[in-house]
Amino acid sequence: PAWALSRGSVRPAPRRRGGRRHAEVNGRKKTFTELQTERLEQAERTVLIKCPSKISEKKLLQYLSSHGKINSHFFFENRGIHALIEFSDKNSIASLQDVIGIPGATEHHVVPFKSRLFTFTMKNLVAQAAAETQIRLSPQSHIPVKDLIQKLCGADSISSQMYTLLNEYQLTEENIKLRYLACSLVSDFARAYFPDSVVKPFGSSVNTFGKLGCDVDMFLDFNEARKHIKKMTKGPFEMEYQLKRLPSERLATQKILSVIGDCLDHFGPGCVSVQKILNARCPLVKFSHQPTGFQCDLSVSNSIAIKSSELLYIYGCLDSRVRALVFSIRCWARVHGLTNSVPGAWITNFSLTMMVIFFLQKRSPPIIPTVDQLRALADDEDRHVIGSYDCSFVSDLSKINPTKNTETLDELLYSFFEYFGSFDFRKNSINLRKGKEVNKPESCPLYIWNPFEQDLNISKNVNQPQLEKFVALARESAWILKKEDKTQRMISKEPWGLAALLIPFGKNNPNTIKNRAKGIGSETIKSLLDSLKLSNVNNLQKAVGK
Ligand code: CTP
Ligand code: MG
Repeated sequence: PAWALSRGSVRPAPRRRGGRRHAEVNGRKKTFTELQTERLEQAERTVLIKCPSKISEKKLLQYLSSHGKINSHFFFENRGIHALIEFSDKNSIASLQDVIGIPGATEHHVVPFKSRLFTFTMKNLVAQAAAETQIRLSPQSHIPVKDLIQKLCGADSISSQMYTLLNEYQLTEENIKLRYLACSLVSDFARAYFPDSVVKPFGSSVNTFGKLGCDVDMFLDFNEARKHIKKMTKGPFEMEYQLKRLPSERLATQKILSVIGDCLDHFGPGCVSVQKILNARCPLVKFSHQPTGFQCDLSVSNSIAIKSSELLYIYGCLDSRVRALVFSIRCWARVHGLTNSVPGAWITNFSLTMMVIFFLQKRSPPIIPTVDQLRALADDEDRHVIGSYDCSFVSDLSKINPTKNTETLDELLYSFFEYFGSFDFRKNSINLRKGKEVNKPESCPLYIWNPFEQDLNISKNVNQPQLEKFVALARESAWILKKEDKTQRMISKEPWGLAALLIPFGKNNPNTIKNRAKGIGSETIKSLLDSLKLSNVNNLQKAVGK
């Protein structure tokens, strides 16, 4: 697949990204829609089982196999051991559900909703046998930043540091499966009302830029139902459903989300902290899904947001440098408090990703095409006009010519900071359609055009101080990368390259401008003065040697 290709001196990502195994159909790379359909279908055949802490993998699989063939499975830790089991046939789940009991209501009263979340227990004898065997747990979170920094110091170039970061942070095949399962479990509730609806993931869970631990954005899709209605209009007769009419689509969205939100809150096993945020620009229900461990945002079909997920997917697949640079910049931004998990005037990950993409469009030769160029490659099947917005772009990755640009990630990381450190944000905006800086259409500190809704600024929330902080940090980072003596750093075991940029630029970071100036101006002089007071020659040497 394209994202694993080595171009020029560029190194391929060392670990398999989730989904690569199934990435081709008839010798052609699967499109975003094909991949999504396949994964949604897999999730429908999947169950999640809470297991005892000492479990015999063999015994569990043996027991489940009596209901049908198991395609894949894995274990993970999330307030106890869980097993995700993917059957090869959906009917196996019905067969399993037939024999599963409902817990008796001793202390709590139970709602008898039969989901695909089960609890497995073992009788005493089996449990003893199980204690002997160890099961492999698949990690669902990334390593802490301090461990990452240590790992990065052992790499041999900034490029390989960036691929190491990508490898540690990106979603794994197992984590992607778990995300689709969470959507599929919510689908079960939505279908109680709308049997044709599907709950699909969008945003960073599917756009190739998701990092372990990021939340699951999901939307309720009625498109399947709409297609069905259109079919009925053929022929000499016409039949249509009688439907409830409401004064606006927004109101319909709010009503649907309100009911499904209540449903998850009252009856959803493991759905906690359900919050209905129906007055937002894009109404949504937030909740925490304990069995999978995900924080979820459920909205109703927002075609443009879905198209932008697909657009990012295309960019993420085109060249292995795109994701490596995006992950590094996002991690850098998080460490320095430029991004935050609570909404506010901070730059979002989505905006940062767009800035990186724009920067890569502007390289010479460009590393990735502009949205207009992707639109020019679209065929009839790719045409999507949503309202008055043209969201067409090519879906077949093989139609896009690979870039001739062979810059290394070392160069790109430095150039990114240099470029945005001196970008004229007062005058210019970032336009990915054209791949060009254009005059700002309105006076916002940071203006990034939504690639499809051209009158929307995706970074409208960002205020002047946050933008200034971004610029200052970008300049400081460019300065560190330019000045540093890598070999010296490696010898003295100091963090170097990307690692040096992932330490907050304060008192403790030996690399920053302020510290260096201060270092020479006060610290060194102070220690020299101190050394003069010392009578011991050894101590004097130590102090001077510092
Ligand atoms: N989105 C958008 N315009 C915005 C914000 C979001 O179109 N101003 C869409 C994008 O498609 C985005 C998705 O909504 O990918 C989800 O938004 P969000 O969760 O904020 O971003 P993610 O890309 O999912 O990144 P993160 O990992 O931070 O959640
Ligand atoms: Mg998200």
